[in-house]
Amino acid sequence: MRTNQPKTIHLSEYRVPAHLVDTMDLRFELFDNGARVHSTLRVRRNPESSEVSAPLTLDGDSLKLEHVALDGKELAAGDYEDTGDQLVIAGVPEQFELAVVTWIEPQNNTRLEGLYKSSGMFCTQCEAEGFRCITYFPDRPDVMARYRTRIEADKSSYPVLLSNGNPVEQGDLENGRHFVTWEDPFPKPSYLFALVAGDLVEKRDTFTTCSGRDIDLRIYVEPRNAEKCGHAMDSLKRSMRWDEEVYGREYDLDIFMIVAVDDFNMGAMENKGLNIFNSSCVLASQETATDLAYQRIEAIVAHEYFHNWSGNRVTCRDWFQLSLKEGFTVFRDSTFSADMGSPTVKRIEDATLLRTAQFAEDAGPMAHPVRPASYMEISNFYTLTIYEKGAEVVRMIHTLLGPDLFRKGSDLYFERHDGQAVTTDDFVKAMEDASGRDLTQFRLWYEQAGTPVLTVSDDYDPEQGVYRLTIQQSVPDTPGQTNKKPQHIPFALGLLGTEGDALPLQLDAADDIGSAPTERVLELTDASHTFEFYGLAERPVPSLLRHFSAPVRVEYPWSREQLVFLMSHDPDGFNRWDAGQRLAVDVIQSIVGAPEDAGIEPRLVEAYRTLLGDSVLDQALVAKMLQLPSEAYLIELASSPDVAAIHRARDQVLRHIATSLRDELIACYHRNTGAGGYEITPESIARRSLRNTALAWLLMINDEAGRDLAVQQFQEADNMTDRMGALRALVNSDYAAERSRALADFYERFQDDPQVVEQWFSVQSSSDRAGQLPQIKALLDHPAFDWKNPNKIRSVIGVFAGQNLAAFHNPDGSGYEFLADQVCRLDDSNPQIAARLVTPLTRWQKFAPAYSAMMHSALKRIRDKAGLSADVYEVVHKSLE
Ligand code: PHE
Ligand code: ZN
Repeated sequence: MRTNQPKTIHLSEYRVPAHLVDTMDLRFELFDNGARVHSTLRVRRNPESSEVSAPLTLDGDSLKLEHVALDGKELAAGDYEDTGDQLVIAGVPEQFELAVVTWIEPQNNTRLEGLYKSSGMFCTQCEAEGFRCITYFPDRPDVMARYRTRIEADKSSYPVLLSNGNPVEQGDLENGRHFVTWEDPFPKPSYLFALVAGDLVEKRDTFTTCSGRDIDLRIYVEPRNAEKCGHAMDSLKRSMRWDEEVYGREYDLDIFMIVAVDDFNMGAMENKGLNIFNSSCVLASQETATDLAYQRIEAIVAHEYFHNWSGNRVTCRDWFQLSLKEGFTVFRDSTFSADMGSPTVKRIEDATLLRTAQFAEDAGPMAHPVRPASYMEISNFYTLTIYEKGAEVVRMIHTLLGPDLFRKGSDLYFERHDGQAVTTDDFVKAMEDASGRDLTQFRLWYEQAGTPVLTVSDDYDPEQGVYRLTIQQSVPDTPGQTNKKPQHIPFALGLLGTEGDALPLQLDAADDIGSAPTERVLELTDASHTFEFYGLAERPVPSLLRHFSAPVRVEYPWSREQLVFLMSHDPDGFNRWDAGQRLAVDVIQSIVGAPEDAGIEPRLVEAYRTLLGDSVLDQALVAKMLQLPSEAYLIELASSPDVAAIHRARDQVLRHIATSLRDELIACYHRNTGAGGYEITPESIARRSLRNTALAWLLMINDEAGRDLAVQQFQEADNMTDRMGALRALVNSDYAAERSRALADFYERFQDDPQVVEQWFSVQSSSDRAGQLPQIKALLDHPAFDWKNPNKIRSVIGVFAGQNLAAFHNPDGSGYEFLADQVCRLDDSNPQIAARLVTPLTRWQKFAPAYSAMMHSALKRIRDKAGLSADVYEVVHKSLE
């Protein structure tokens, strides 16, 4: 068992740094058996700090200190204190130069924080606290220095040497070595430092900025991936243009680089001028990447690029402010994606993620506010709450202010804080100052955790023609927070007449009904509000929380008839989809635990029939509307869920619909196949999605024609979306022979491509047929599985526990024990990944007692592992409390 408990860090204990670093001069000597890091810091006392005689305190982790000198004078062991995680030097002058030499071993770094090796190249990951694994430094984002970095390495093994900023010098050295020196003119926190050394090919392009400057764009990849950079490059150029047009932000260096790395804990990292990407988030080709991957790459390239302003030029004062950069940047990238494709579909995707996963987080033991008040291990706080809920909070400001005032606010924010490390409060203040709006109550969104619940009721007075809507809000208790205050919620709505007409929303009896808008954003600030709508000749059907105007739960007693009506009449595409989801949820919930032959709502089948034949509505929206609510979402909505029963009920509904609409599915498949080659456009993506949904459903009911179509599509596909669609359908079918043949053929064809092998793992580990525990264990023994590669770990273990819910929650508890074993194993090599994998177990309290007791004991087994990392410790202890 772990003996010393990791320290809790509190926002309330924030102090400005006692010392500032103006410049950081680095020299890296890279060797096969390690790296020597020489650093020279120009340090001065911070005039804003009251700690006048504070010692200089530098963070360090797993470093071997070889040398330290102050103003040229070597310090002896007694002149400083090495506490294990800090180097403390007392009695330092007002200003001085500190020189430090450390020795590190990147080749043995399996945590993938700091400097490490991936497929033979050197690379870094410094956010949040990885820089301290490279050298001693005040590793906190409010210490910003100008960096100059010289990299020395063997020239034939490492011809490419990269760091932040511009290259200023290069040359050859003795013994076949060479060097390149980089200089970054912009002061930055240490978490944005990056270095890459490897044998990489370079893909180049140029972008001309709005002021006419030519920017040199480069993507560096291993030679075998040279042809897979086009999509990322195009996405980058579109992002650069968009940020100029929508936010007035121009790129600031002369060169912008992206590097693809196979072993990476996260998706990508926004290091100044040198973004480092998980290969799976940058490489794409028609044959190897699905449409989903294409869209993800575009979004992540944009996200990292947008960080150049929202994150790098204006950065975070401390890690409690993480959502300052992440929430805002996710909002920016999601608006960008909406502009590049279908805004309604993008909104549906964002809302789905939020309602399925973020709501679950917000209701679980790790729930925390968008601006947390404390943490043990900051890497546990790169969460859906910080990212996605944080983005929703910014979106609500956008909704409340409107686009013009929001833009005024963001201009003011960037101008006022350029070059500074600031807080979420500074962001809100800029929005207030630019708009004249009071966002005092709105700030509660940053401070209170938990998903607000809106309970809506209504009545109609036919005599007066008045429709009354009452909305009550409550914010649930979360760990450490009770008795919460009402929040400021923008609530968009419309009212529909019996013919589906959008009715005018007249809130004042005296107003002229002719000029009333048909959609309004009501502002909720109290625990309860009643709104009266005048001049209504009939009882309207309400369309509530349009386009998901706030990250809240809405409860209203919709009848199935109203939902069917909204599904085909709501002018708001988002709410059409939402009505369909609510109807499907209601139908599935009503047969959970019911006998096999329970009747299934005919109106749901009819609604799907209409959708399958609809060629007028945006096909991308139709494709979304055809997806039944996921198991994960159904579980999130249930209290004390019985996973097996939910799985059965959902399956039963799906099969019933597929059986009833078998001919329509075949027709839909054919209508969306052939005609028009492969393109990455919303229309063509929607067509692929429709035909693959039809295929999946046909195979769910063991349709032989469907099977033949799947086999044929699998063999003839000219793109990964179709090949994977067919493979997935076969894998999830009862056609065992076709399933194994397709899996073997797929592996044979793509075994040399790690990103495709990851998809091959995922399609099996997510399947309730191919992904039962013995098969999952076999995947871990497969030669392509690699315990050091986070993507492989995620695609087998993460996908099994997060997406194959019926197998993971096997009533015999084997799924939980399996996950506990893997977490313990990974805790020693990569604690960040181990801590993330624990997530499904942390929700134990939610489940029906039989499940929850076994989840609890699996967690306790992890807790009792010897030498548990701080990362896993925090997650496990908070969920057992
Ligand atoms: N800051 C990165 C992003 O959101 C995510 C990240 C965090 C990457 C920590 C690595 C480590 O773009
Ligand atoms: Zn980010």
